[in-house]
Amino acid sequence: MCGIVGYIGYREAQPIIVKGLKRLEYRGYDSAGIALFDGKEINVTKTKGKVSDLEEKILNGNNTSGTIGIGHTRWATHGIPNDVNSHPHYSNSGDLVIIHNGIIENYATIKQELENRGYVFQSDTDTEVLVNLIEDVQKNGNFKLGKAVQVALNQVIGAYAIAVFDLKKPNEIIAARLGSPLAIGVGEGEFFIASDASPFIEYTNNAIYLEDEEMAIIRLHKDTKIRNITNDRLVSPYVQELKLNLEEIEKGGYEHFMLKEIFEQPEAIKDTYRGRLNVSKGIIKMAGVEDHLETFLNAQKITIVACGTSWHAGLVAEYVFEKLARIPVEVEYASEFRYRNPVISNKDVVIAISQSGETADTLAAIKLAKENGAFVFGVCNVVGSSISRETHSGAYTHAGPEIGVASTKAFTTQITLLTLIALRLAKAKGTLSNSDYKRYLVELETIPSKVEEVLEADKLTKMIGEIYKDASNFLYLGRGFNFPVALEGALKLKEISYIHAEGYPAAEMKHGPIALIDENMPIVVIATKYGHYEKIVSNIQEIKSRKGKIIGIVTKGDTQVKSIADHIIEVPESSELLSPLLTTIPLQLLSYYIAILLNKNVDQPRNLAKSVTVE
Ligand code: G6P
Repeated sequence: MCGIVGYIGYREAQPIIVKGLKRLEYRGYDSAGIALFDGKEINVTKTKGKVSDLEEKILNGNNTSGTIGIGHTRWATHGIPNDVNSHPHYSNSGDLVIIHNGIIENYATIKQELENRGYVFQSDTDTEVLVNLIEDVQKNGNFKLGKAVQVALNQVIGAYAIAVFDLKKPNEIIAARLGSPLAIGVGEGEFFIASDASPFIEYTNNAIYLEDEEMAIIRLHKDTKIRNITNDRLVSPYVQELKLNLEEIEKGGYEHFMLKEIFEQPEAIKDTYRGRLNVSKGIIKMAGVEDHLETFLNAQKITIVACGTSWHAGLVAEYVFEKLARIPVEVEYASEFRYRNPVISNKDVVIAISQSGETADTLAAIKLAKENGAFVFGVCNVVGSSISRETHSGAYTHAGPEIGVASTKAFTTQITLLTLIALRLAKAKGTLSNSDYKRYLVELETIPSKVEEVLEADKLTKMIGEIYKDASNFLYLGRGFNFPVALEGALKLKEISYIHAEGYPAAEMKHGPIALIDENMPIVVIATKYGHYEKIVSNIQEIKSRKGKIIGIVTKGDTQVKSIADHIIEVPESSELLSPLLTTIPLQLLSYYIAILLNKNVDQPRNLAKSVTVE
């Protein structure tokens, strides 16, 4: 899960690549590097740190001219983040240079063999092994670069998106993918290579997305050739026209992407149901569901697989599906599911949720579910992503690009989409009365304006953040539909402020976490009007008796919790089922402000990455 960018054309490559890398920093940001061909030689500049550190090094460093180049922003797998382990990596002759996103699992064996043949390695990376393997194949077989890359890739086990450049063949770049995304931007007399389309969207709207096991031979003034790496067949390139625009991937006046994305939620939720929800006609329509309605209705169970925040959205969906459509639902961490021989058959529906559509564990879980005969439905945000292609059917959340590493609008839009599906199935199964069905449809349409209202608690949340920013631990409690929201609130805080936080079902508090409560412990309790309110109030009393500090998320006009809690943040009234779409918002804001007040980098928290394309 690194970001890669390449350019071959007539413009100076360095500014294009550096800007592109900045847009890809969501994929990793512990080191960065660039290799440029100036017509005579390849100049590499690389450094530990962010792309801004690379920029500084470029300013003070060696020649960075050239109209051909490749660049990389790294999230370390093999070898600690330092200058030497940063990409690009050279081959021993100095002729080949490579950037790589992924993991070569059998790199140790290959490295040993190459060392036996006299190769020496500067870095601890699997990537340097790969570039030398390509060189070795090239020399021994007297192959052209493309063929050498193909033969070498057939020897490796693992995942990759790579771009390779050969000093001896300066008019071409070879790109290939297996398990890690790779897009090729096709311009007039120029080509771009990148992990997603954001680095080249201002230059061209035309893109080719490589499929797994495909490689592209990209030559100046020639058509790009695409070949299957395993069976050697030529594939005709499918050039897609992209709808993405530049403003969508920029901060638009907000200080951070995370804040921008929190505030985009009213629109993002609307975008999710737009064209799918018709309240006046009482219709929910999604082609991906409609085409497979019978499969959904006959499912003996639905298994949801996901990671991180998407897994939390899956937990909310479990409550929603079971309540509305009365279909049993299991929610699994994709990483556990894939390795534990799950009981899945052709009577099952598996729903894979993923913002990026690239998470390696979720992809592997999908493959396993398919092998077992299940029907797999994808809920993704990124159009054309690997998961959206790997699933039998699916629906996009249409939340727009989410750049901040801590996921926000992806969560609420995933819940919105899954609720639409559950309502559609409930209607078809007759598990919901007509009046309840209509009531939910009407209410769903009011959610964006209610989210806007919650966003007005921005300043209040910041003030509460000021008071508790130095706490070492936080507890988040919720029940029912809001239990997953408690988990998500705790995750948000951990991710960006590095404060330890745990989410718990409120009633479980007495089975352990209560021992932690003292006057230093802030406890965020979701206590909205519908859904076990009285029980939660009792939990709040128990916290109060132990002097814990209570931050209540309550329904507007609440008096009972207000009289006990230290602080309250109000959300508009809603049904319990739709309340997560509202109660999540103050928790996102709280973690954002605490992290800002602690001077943390909210958009790029340490050790994390937005898209985890490794196991
Ligand atoms: C990473 C991100 C999380 C995200 C998770 C799953 O850990 O930092 O924000 O929830 O991956 O990503 P996905 O793209 O599959 O939703």
